[in-house]
Amino acid sequence: MARHIVATTSEIPPGGNKVVDIAGRDIVVFHVNGEFFALLNRCPHEGAPLEKAACVARLTSPEPGVYERSRVGEMLRCPWHGWEFDMRNGQSWFDPKRVKIRSYPVAVERGEELQKGPYVAETFPVHVEDSYVIVEV
Ligand code: FES
Repeated sequence: MARHIVATTSEIPPGGNKVVDIAGRDIVVFHVNGEFFALLNRCPHEGAPLEKAACVARLTSPEPGVYERSRVGEMLRCPWHGWEFDMRNGQSWFDPKRVKIRSYPVAVERGEELQKGPYVAETFPVHVEDSYVIVEV
């Protein structure tokens, strides 16, 4: 699996997201509770863009009339029909064994730790002679 630098941490504010194209795949990266999560930007139901999904809490009920909220912001509610997914692994909340969004590993690394990538411009020697700039190719 190839590594792709997709953003600086400041480009995706807390509660926000960024859509990136990686090898022809539309991937959305979310920033929630200090962590980053990457998912295919397509709902497995009918293909809604998940960048528009609401980031909601996990809601459980141990008994009738009692509700508990947890993992605030880590559940995605699809904007078209309201299916809900766990942002950590893409699993659906209603049918976790069969319905799932493709998720991708995300890492945050300091700039100096990053391996030199393929985005290096070719350089050429330059000389200034009298009033002419000369580039050697
Ligand atoms: S397209 Fe997402 S729930 Fe229908």
